[in-house]
Amino acid sequence: MRLLITFCLYGLTVGWSFAVTAEERGALSVSADDAVYPPMVVQTCFSCHGPGGQSQSPAIPSIAGLPRDYLLNVLAAYRYGGRFGTIMDRIMGAYDKRQVETMADYFSRQPYRVNKQDAKWQLADRGRQLHRRYCRECHGDGLKPSDKGAPLLIGRWMDYLRWTIRDYLIGINQGDEEMNRQLARLIRNHGEPGLEALIHYYGKGRP
Ligand code: HEC
Ligand code: HEC
Repeated sequence: MRLLITFCLYGLTVGWSFAVTAEERGALSVSADDAVYPPMVVQTCFSCHGPGGQSQSPAIPSIAGLPRDYLLNVLAAYRYGGRFGTIMDRIMGAYDKRQVETMADYFSRQPYRVNKQDAKWQLADRGRQLHRRYCRECHGDGLKPSDKGAPLLIGRWMDYLRWTIRDYLIGINQGDEEMNRQLARLIRNHGEPGLEALIHYYGKGRP
């Protein structure tokens, strides 16, 4: 009798777990992106950009809370040109328009967070003045975005900013024309130390 009960329970368990698996498989084959949250297509980004797009690595940018239109532009630019990538140019070839919209929708709705890192406050104070003069109009006042649609820079990883700004300066990133003018003015008037001060201001993460 005990053996029979055990056998029946075993049968039930196996039957139930099979049913769930079949159901899951069915749901996934209908539409992988609609069936799960976060959508499958953005989960592949988490391995590098961190859970929810909040990156733990200074070499990889956080993408949580960046403006939707900016995300659409930059993801298209990796694929079709205008934005230099060591990795992203190759990754973006694999996705269609709808998947890229899912990515932009999802990441733009995640909270924007300031990354914690060591930055020199002596430089940050100088950097704040330079930001106000050359960059604030488009990149916002502290944590308040401007109406120009450019992403916030405050609290971003300093290494990522250094490389990315360099890529604009040498022209392998094609940014906004007015931004290129302001970057050129910054370098002309304040040189490399000015750029470094600006980066420490962003790294410090305090408006
Ligand atoms: C293998 C690691 C890796 C994966 C996977 C990855 N990324 Fe990236 N991503 C990077 C790196 C590194 C950069 C900096 C640019 C470069 O070097 O390609 C970047 C840059 C970006 C940027 C630009 C950020 C900014 O501030 O302008 C966006 C947006 C982005 N990735 C979105 C995504 C999305 C969406 C996915 C998922 C489909 C994804 N990435 C998957 C490594 C990765
Ligand atoms: C006239 C508006 C404007 C001004 C002024 C401006 N920017 Fe930008 N910036 C933009 C726009 C628009 C983008 C997005 C360009 C793109 O799609 O590559 C951008 C992108 C960037 C990025 C890439 C952000 C990311 O997430 O990868 C950095 C870094 C940057 N700007 C730095 C600066 C700095 C530093 C200054 C001041 C010296 C500055 N910008 C001034 C409009 C501006």
